[in-house]
Amino acid sequence: MYNILEIIEKKSKGLELTKAEIDYAVMGYVNGDIPDYQMSALLMAIYLKGMTDKETTDLTDVMLHSGEVLDLGFDSVDKHSTGGVGDKTTIVLAPLMAALDVKVAKMSGRGLGHTGGTIDKLEAINGFQTDISLDDVKKQVEDIGVAIVSQMGNLCPADKKLYALRDVTGTVASIPLIASSIMSKKLASGASKIIIDLKVGKGALMTNLEDAKELARVMVNIGHLNGKETICVLTNMDEPLGNAVGNSLEVLEAIETLKGNGPKDLNELVINLGSLMLSLEKNMPVEEAIEYVENALKNGLGYEKLVEMVKYQHGDIDNIPVSAKKFDIKAYQSGYIKSIDALKIGELARKLGAGRFTKDDVIDPTVGFVLHKKVGDKVLKDDVLITAYYNEKDLPLADIFDCFEYSDEEVAKPTLIYEIIKKETL
Ligand code: URA
Repeated sequence: MYNILEIIEKKSKGLELTKAEIDYAVMGYVNGDIPDYQMSALLMAIYLKGMTDKETTDLTDVMLHSGEVLDLGFDSVDKHSTGGVGDKTTIVLAPLMAALDVKVAKMSGRGLGHTGGTIDKLEAINGFQTDISLDDVKKQVEDIGVAIVSQMGNLCPADKKLYALRDVTGTVASIPLIASSIMSKKLASGASKIIIDLKVGKGALMTNLEDAKELARVMVNIGHLNGKETICVLTNMDEPLGNAVGNSLEVLEAIETLKGNGPKDLNELVINLGSLMLSLEKNMPVEEAIEYVENALKNGLGYEKLVEMVKYQHGDIDNIPVSAKKFDIKAYQSGYIKSIDALKIGELARKLGAGRFTKDDVIDPTVGFVLHKKVGDKVLKDDVLITAYYNEKDLPLADIFDCFEYSDEEVAKPTLIYEIIKKETL
């Protein structure tokens, strides 16, 4: 018989836990036999001492089997982002892939901390339904090739409980805990192949490339041990992605991108991730897949698919409200934009009402920011840097200025895609 106190002590000495011990602790917590305070202590021991690959794989397996494991009945590629600011990629990619005959049954999340969530964004579209039964998701994907929903069945209840506890015990940023949390959900959701957009930088969970590479290595390994091809794409999240930050503003930007008018960085990311997904699913060379993706962006096929999906999920695409008030914030000097702090912009958008501070907060989908300048751009004094969309909350102008750093010298455009990590490159 196991004893939670001994398990905590063992991990706090940095020793390797057995699968049976991990199972006892995690399932005991899910069933309510182990209280929050003891699970918090174990999480902190894991946070501080780490886990071996074997422990992380075992933890993933225990969490994966804590609930339903779906069989979608068709091949699909899942794309997952580890979370960033202005990241509306899924809203562009999912319909784009469906337009190219790649089935996407996508389970997405809500905003977390300063990062936005695809479900909150899509709910900015009047009437859009995200709570759909598994059978209806399957039918929708059979009919039109794509669905983006908030949940499909009772997946990974252990992750739900553990994640909520990690959020309030300072134990989120741990490689084994993040890897097992993400991979257990991906493996449970029935996708045959997994592409992870692993964000790195000021606005991301992983703030440096070295940690991000280690997280990628662990996730790719877990995916392959479970028989699912898994690829991690390490991408820059120092400045927000695209120009829009805030729920309805991001949907509008996703629509423009699908019409071929997207911001350069978002477009580049969509083409890179999309061509990887397509080449994986259709077994074609990436260069050929790039052509298909670029064409689907140019000829509006992806946009038509988005319209179809929004209609199927009862949304009104012609009715995406933005805030009543807006204000242009202008540069107070000339120069080149050296940095735009994604974390600060995300936090400010949250303060305007775009995100939550407690889990019961109701978000205001209509507020946020639109950037008019990005890192590397030249600005003249009084050029508009950013437009704030707001309602009743006051605009913290000084804090908004604080997000921008200038340089007198030219600044190179940042690299968007750092590295692609797959089994063969480990
Ligand atoms: N996203 C997740 O789903 N889990 C984590 O632990 C971190 C990011």
